[in-house]
Amino acid sequence: MTELLRAGIVGTGMYLPEKVLTNQDLERMMDTNDEWITSRVGIKERRIAAPHETTSTMGTQAARQALADAGVTPAEVDLIITATITPDVPWPATACFIQRELGANRAACFDLEAACTGFIYALSLARNFVATGMYRTVLVVAAETLSRITDWQDRSTAVLFGDAAGAAVVRAVDPPAGILASVLGSDGNKGELLEQPAGGSRRPASHETVDQRLHYIKMKGNEVFKFAGRAMARANAEVLAKAGMTIEHVDLLIPHQANMRIIEAAARLSHLSMDKVYLNIQRYGNTSAATTAVALCEARREGRLRAGSVCLLVAFGGGFTWGSCLVRF
Ligand code: ACO
Repeated sequence: MTELLRAGIVGTGMYLPEKVLTNQDLERMMDTNDEWITSRVGIKERRIAAPHETTSTMGTQAARQALADAGVTPAEVDLIITATITPDVPWPATACFIQRELGANRAACFDLEAACTGFIYALSLARNFVATGMYRTVLVVAAETLSRITDWQDRSTAVLFGDAAGAAVVRAVDPPAGILASVLGSDGNKGELLEQPAGGSRRPASHETVDQRLHYIKMKGNEVFKFAGRAMARANAEVLAKAGMTIEHVDLLIPHQANMRIIEAAARLSHLSMDKVYLNIQRYGNTSAATTAVALCEARREGRLRAGSVCLLVAFGGGFTWGSCLVRF
């Protein structure tokens, strides 16, 4: 067997739409209030895509930044993986639209659907493509336009979500840097607790599905809540064990930004203090696959991740899916 290369993250980028939707704005739209949203979830505001913006336009902006940060040209990209549950269209892949915009003409492209865990899944795949030598440069884009599948008449979900894109470039790096280990998991028995029920082969779009509002996010929030903190803590423990490391080695935890109380539970169960946890949920809300990608980019820009820093990325989402990735910069 040929020896595996060490893959690492060599560039990151992000894009947030300009329009800010605050809790006070939501108070004027539905029966909710800032106190409930802040205390139950931890969100103060979120970003909403302009009508002309889509998952691929936002993803392309994030990708351009990540490529520039890595010092890589679009022509050097071998593969684009786009993690999203809100593709521009059901097919062709949003990754192909991003390829066209970038002019990354040599790249192979596909979309990956693992809901909020999508960025972690895509990073893990990128790592394997680079490690085996199949591809030299992989561009991972995690982008979501959740505002388009948010039911603005359902206060139990409408206050939670936002739009965003993040991106990372994965290439071979010199140890000790690199993606040290990753853990992925899923439980298909819990699929109905968090889903977009119509628009696929089971329930194709029809007047009836539209009338029944089945093209929007449906969530049994309490059930998801009970599962999420424990699932993330378990994934963290597994990935650390795989890498032969302990939580004391971790400089920064970047968790999926779905709910402040879930993040606090995951940190507590992982025996990590909150000052080592990156938070931007208050500004952007839950942007599904994009949360961990945007947070990673912000953490690097703010100097919270430097050469040698160890970062633990962790997420859970629809499917159910969960995953954790341990990275040294
Ligand atoms: N404003 C005011 N009141 C509200 C709102 C709102 N926006 N939404 C619900 N309420 C009310 C409910 O009607 C209920 O009232 P009642 O007691 O009179 O019946 C009360 O608040 C409590 O509702 P619960 O749903 O029990 O509230 P809970 O404490 O569970 O919090 C929440 C709800 C925030 C959704 C929580 O369950 C949660 O965060 N779950 C996890 C969600 C998540 O992380 N999803 C991520 C995955 S997303 C993806 O993968 C795409």
